[in-house]
Amino acid sequence: MAVSDSEISEIVTGLSAKPKQISPKYFYDERGSQLFDAITELPEYYLTNTELGIMRDNIDEIVSMVGKQASLIEFGSGSSLKTRVLLQHLSELAAYVPVDISDEHLHASAEAIRSEFPHIDTLPVVADFTKQFDLPTPMVMPVRNVVYFPGSTIGNFEHDLAMELLRVMHHEAGKNGALLIGVDLQKDPEIIEAAYNDSVGVTAEFNLNMLQHLNRDYGANFDVSEFEHSANYDSDIGRVVIELISRTDQTFEIGDNAFDIGDGEAILTEYSHKYTLDGFAAMAKAAGFAVRKVWMDADQLFSVQFLTRS
Ligand code: TRP
Repeated sequence: MAVSDSEISEIVTGLSAKPKQISPKYFYDERGSQLFDAITELPEYYLTNTELGIMRDNIDEIVSMVGKQASLIEFGSGSSLKTRVLLQHLSELAAYVPVDISDEHLHASAEAIRSEFPHIDTLPVVADFTKQFDLPTPMVMPVRNVVYFPGSTIGNFEHDLAMELLRVMHHEAGKNGALLIGVDLQKDPEIIEAAYNDSVGVTAEFNLNMLQHLNRDYGANFDVSEFEHSANYDSDIGRVVIELISRTDQTFEIGDNAFDIGDGEAILTEYSHKYTLDGFAAMAKAAGFAVRKVWMDADQLFSVQFLTRS
């Protein structure tokens, strides 16, 4: 993998900040992607299975709200089972447009989608979806654009960035556009904390792999055994704070940059925000969307929501 100077300077800037932080994008090297797939299959990690269940249980209504001849624009590469469930049932789609920053990942998953759904006009776009990007022109003129953003990935953005992202979605949806989004909900903190602290330790391995990734590909020299995984739910803010905690006073380097970290000091690796229905609706409204329909599981752990431009 090619390492760019801007990535190194991004990592160095984050580790020079207080508190120290590393962007969650460094979770996902090959090993990290495998570990994340394993997380989604853990019994404690309710998010993936619950969302998939909601999609399956309500697919007819979801399909009718999307409508005929829509262009489905997925923010993310579209490798999930949820996307496949949707594509299996959306028989009259004008186009399917997965958008992802990773060229390799995107084209591999677009090829897989094309071979499973040869009748769908699949038009992958390589772009950073946190900023406005140009949409391709499908063979069939779409009646409307529907942005699809599963997985409660919106929860991994802090409030202002989540707002900015919703505004990008609003722009890409265009006139008469809509948004179909998975949003994880606030609930009993024990359920949430268990999802990010599984009993077999896959989540810990996933979090710690970020340091291994930086060692392998970015010239870092973390002593990974001297860090530990931590995930705590802050119920006032409604977010899980995911960190790597130093077990001792130590020094690590990235290229020519040396950093000191104290015993018990944290490196922030990700936030995962959980919403109330009202809280999410208010944020969406500020970005120009109105919630038209909310589907949930029986225990109200997770929601799939359909919004239109208001
Ligand atoms: N997007 C996932 C989430 O917020 C990422 C995730 C799951 C994660 N488990 C994790 C990130 C553990 C860090 C550590 O649910």
